[in-house]
Amino acid sequence: MALKRLAFLPSFAMGLADVDEDHRALIAIGNDIAAAIEGRDFAACTALFGRFIATCRDHFVREERHLFASGFPGAAAHAAKHVELLTRAETTHAHCRDQALNRQAGDCYTKLIEFLIEDILRADMAFKSYVEHVRYRG
Ligand SMILES: [Fe+2]
Ligand SMILES: [Fe+2]
Repeated sequence: MALKRLAFLPSFAMGLADVDEDHRALIAIGNDIAAAIEGRDFAACTALFGRFIATCRDHFVREERHLFASGFPGAAAHAAKHVELLTRAETTHAHCRDQALNRQAGDCYTKLIEFLIEDILRADMAFKSYVEHVRYRG
C-alpha cells in the first residue's frame, strides 16, 4: 500500500518561526506514520500518532499566543477550532489503536491527513493573510 506524502510548501510559511517549525514537524510525523503503515509496523504507527497529538497540543498553545497577540479578529473562533480538532484527533487515535489490531491503518492515516489539511491549509491560511496584512512579526 503506497500512501501519499505531504510536503511543507513555501506557501504554508507564515513567517512566524515557531509556528512554521511546528507545521513542518507535524507534516514530518504524518509522513513517518505513512512509512510505518507501509512497513506494517502498527505499534510504531500508534506510538507516532500519540506523538502527533502531543505535538499538536503544544503547537496550538504556541499558535494561539500569536492569534491573540496579533489582534486577529478570528482568534477566538480559531482557538475553538483547535479544541475541536484535538478532540477529533484523540478519537481517531483511539480508533487507530483498534484498527492497528485489525491491521487496517490506512483509514487512520487518511483522517490524520484531513486533520493536517484542516489546520494548516484552511484555518491557518486565513490567519496568514492577516499576519501579512498587518505585518505582524511575532
Ligand atoms: Fe497550525
Ligand atoms: Fe491553527
